[in-house]
Amino acid sequence: MDHFLYKNGHLHAEDVPLRDIAASVGTPFYCYSSATLKRHFALFTEALSPLPHLVCFAVKANSNVAVLKLLGDLGAGMDVVSGGEYLRAKAAGVPGERIVFSGVGKTREEMGLALGGGVRQFNVESEPELEALSEVATTMGIEAPIALRLNPDVDAKTHDKISTGRKEDKFGIPIARASEIYARAAQLPGIRVVGIDMHIGSQLTDLAPFEAAYTKMADLTRQLRAEGHFIERLDLGGGLGIPYTRSNEAPPLPSDYGAMIHRVLGDLGCEIEIEPGRLIAGNAGLLVSQVIYRKAGDEREFLIIDAAMNDLMRPAMYAAHHDIVPVSEPAPGDDIAPVDIVGPVCESGDTFARQRDMPLLVAGDLVAFRSAGAYGAVMASEYNSRPLIPEVLVNEDQFAVIRPRPGFDEMIARDRIPDWM
Ligand code: LLP
Repeated sequence: MDHFLYKNGHLHAEDVPLRDIAASVGTPFYCYSSATLKRHFALFTEALSPLPHLVCFAVKANSNVAVLKLLGDLGAGMDVVSGGEYLRAKAAGVPGERIVFSGVGKTREEMGLALGGGVRQFNVESEPELEALSEVATTMGIEAPIALRLNPDVDAKTHDKISTGRKEDKFGIPIARASEIYARAAQLPGIRVVGIDMHIGSQLTDLAPFEAAYTKMADLTRQLRAEGHFIERLDLGGGLGIPYTRSNEAPPLPSDYGAMIHRVLGDLGCEIEIEPGRLIAGNAGLLVSQVIYRKAGDEREFLIIDAAMNDLMRPAMYAAHHDIVPVSEPAPGDDIAPVDIVGPVCESGDTFARQRDMPLLVAGDLVAFRSAGAYGAVMASEYNSRPLIPEVLVNEDQFAVIRPRPGFDEMIARDRIPDWM
């Protein structure tokens, strides 16, 4: 459920008409709903209670500091994968004890940054990383709390590019080597083992792969405890999928996911950590864009809009579907015809939808891409020298620009001409 509904013929974000935001900030822009973000966070906390738990928002899904602050103020932890994300979480006021540091290639600098500023745990993905962390922590005279990210060799049955738990994927430590590497971790100075971590992929629409992975985790918890390790936390990763269409998709609900976690892991007495990103932010955000031209090709019609692949990369990168709806509500019986919806970037890949049934929109009309709150703004680039687009946060009848649109001057001023020129 989200809070983007038509009221009086106009699409609103909560109580704010999107056309008012467009008039004020220009197009294109991202727009997030506070109410939806809060609701999605609450769904996870409800699903996991009464188990001791921490819901760590995956910052990679949406790293705007205002979004992080909204969630952090509700008690969310954060899952970060870079020094930049760590500093964003801190800038949002999230204390180090609620920040989990994940990622396959943490540098020594990033380790030092997080150890210095406070961190809940590092999810360590390899032996060399473990050794590096031991060195950094020992030099700083600090103990680094760690979980090892294990690769359970489970196929998440999702898009190949976002599947992470098969043995051919680059992530984690093969589960068969867990015993050996936990034993190594226990000996290393500056390292304190606190738990086990897994993350098998993103946009999972079936609970079975999660259950297969968590069953392996439960067995391993018992085994590692028998081997003398102190396993007090289980980090289950993120990955629960969302509906990208309003029609027939019905991925499992957080409550179903929570019930399965209770069943498989509930009797271990561990604190449960999860790292959802998409489910919290995805359907809490829209991308709003304006039609520049309607163009008749030989075989099909094109709607050329002012958003492009650099602003929302998912369709070009994963052939991902996003529902695209007119901001002015079509009347029943209005003509509908198939169009290709494309951006202005000079690549055929800059196509958001092919032969999509739409009302007969014309230049100046606004459209909204649904499910754009996760992996939207964060993946944007300035390709074709298109400045990053603004982000807006709505709260009931108010809205605020939480990242302004940079001017062309600002963009160009970042470049430097060498002295010798
Ligand atoms: N934890 C770890 C260690 C992850 O690698 C990820 C996502 C998450 C949590 C959050 O997963 P979520 O709950 O959001 O599914 N750019 C792609 C998605 C990449 C996901 C990468 N890792 C997309 O647009 O679909």
